[in-house]
Amino acid sequence: MRPLLESAREKLRRRKVVAVMSGKGGVGKSVVAALAALAKPGSALVDLDLEGASAPRLFGLSGRLHEISKEGIEPLEVGGVKVFSLGGIVGDRYVVLPGYGQAGAVEALLAFAKLGDSDPVVVDMPPGMGEELLALSRITDFLPVLVTTPSKASYGVVKHLAEYLAEIGKKPAAVVLNMAYVDCGGSRIYPFGRGEDARRLAESFGAPLYELPIDPSLEDYVGRIHEYRGPIAYVVRQMVEGL
Ligand SMILES: Nc1ncnc2c1ncn2[C@@H]1O[C@H](COP(=O)(O)OP(=O)(O)OP(=O)(O)O)[C@@H](O)[C@H]1O
Ligand SMILES: [Mg+2]
Repeated sequence: MRPLLESAREKLRRRKVVAVMSGKGGVGKSVVAALAALAKPGSALVDLDLEGASAPRLFGLSGRLHEISKEGIEPLEVGGVKVFSLGGIVGDRYVVLPGYGQAGAVEALLAFAKLGDSDPVVVDMPPGMGEELLALSRITDFLPVLVTTPSKASYGVVKHLAEYLAEIGKKPAAVVLNMAYVDCGGSRIYPFGRGEDARRLAESFGAPLYELPIDPSLEDYVGRIHEYRGPIAYVVRQMVEGL
């Protein structure tokens, strides 16, 4: 009997869990996860990046800590989204954990998060295929959203992740090709190629592919992502509706 694992399982039972992942770092997972949560009122966003704490940075919550009581972990609410983050517990400190410690942190955050009636629960995964992914797999039957860029380096890692997911009986619910093109006065420029590899990968798993543009204005919204209404939000909303 593992009480934390059991409580985390119970907490997520009967909720749709969307896990935004990639294997690769810096490809836009946190942006996609934040906009996915914002796309549906009543969503929760759970940031499982122990080192990065991206969700607080994107929503302007850095430095704010979760209130923790006997009842559980209070969310930080922004833009109609209940945000939970390991960064909101440890604050501005670094955390180095062995594998079992990472699993424990994931289980504890989900077990004690006061999710209320939040649905769906969007999970922002850290880069890599490490303990957080294994821990989440033990807890819930999530819908994987795979994020890649058109670069060969990113695609190679995402392909491995898709293969691993297939091995554990899951297929991508969607593939997101981020930073695919730049919109230049109505015509699209594809600076890194057309992303054929990602398209084939999505097709091979029967998953829809969503292309996101490079939007230079996005950087202005770091800290207030809930106010962003640009083209990336528009496509991510379509993706969420398709899940
Ligand atoms: N489509 C885009 N257009 C412009 N900037 C983008 C786009 N997608 C992501 N970015 C920027 O790229 C950077 C990395 O994005 P993000 O933090 O979402 O990546 P990540 O995959 O979550 O990274 P990590 O692996 O560190 O968690 C951020 O500064 C973000 O604002
Ligand atoms: Mg991130």
